[in-house]
Amino acid sequence: METPLKHVALILDGNGRWAKQRNLPRSDGHKEGAKRAFEIAQHAFQHWHIPFVTFFAFSTENWQRPKLEVSTIFRLLNAHLKKQRANFIKEKIRLHTLGDIAQLPSNLYATLMDIKQVTSQFTKCNLVLALNYGAREEILRAIKLCTQASPTVQSLDWNTFSRYLYTADIPDPDLVIRTSGEIRLSNYLCLQSAYSELYFTPTYWPDFNKEAFNLAIENYKKRERRFGNAEQ
Ligand code: FPP
Repeated sequence: METPLKHVALILDGNGRWAKQRNLPRSDGHKEGAKRAFEIAQHAFQHWHIPFVTFFAFSTENWQRPKLEVSTIFRLLNAHLKKQRANFIKEKIRLHTLGDIAQLPSNLYATLMDIKQVTSQFTKCNLVLALNYGAREEILRAIKLCTQASPTVQSLDWNTFSRYLYTADIPDPDLVIRTSGEIRLSNYLCLQSAYSELYFTPTYWPDFNKEAFNLAIENYKKRERRFGNAEQ
């Protein structure tokens, strides 16, 4: 029996190479990439009725990039989110974030908090941005929070521990998609993707359109998920 698709998580890779291919500045790749993210989320919600779509927009490791690129990414993200604010409300899309967003520039932090707050009553469509997110940081944070709350770790089980992850209210991804031909998870949702199906495509993120997303979903639908169980 086919498992219903509740959550697709994407690693948006290849913005820089997409721009280089066209002799454009890297920032143009990020700009195009930000547009694509919203389009793909809308398509996932409307066409496939997938309730959760997560994008890896900025990792804890991305701070190592040149300062100008980092500030450009934040500026573009902020501008794009502000532009889409009305659509979040009109299309009843709830915004969530994963990661320590308080460390982001204050204007971006304020935009995120505002959109999260004005969309908090929506339930059907959930757009999740992993921002200043890294799985290792998430795990350490969860251990600290968890041991503070209940020092009796001996009786700890997965259900309790997972409440301390950033994804406490978000189902595990059924499918993780990475663009640009790289075949790795890069510190993305490492615990949550324990049983996820993985899909890698050579397409650079700004070229990843609805048809490319449909191909990934069709591919997922052919897979048999066993979650450690025997073949049926
Ligand atoms: C990946 O390409 C891009 C990033 C890590 C930067 C941030 C992503 C965006 C601005 C789009 C996200 C926007 C929203 C709204 C979710 P890369 O720079 O690693 O490309 P490269 O590997 O070809 O250099």
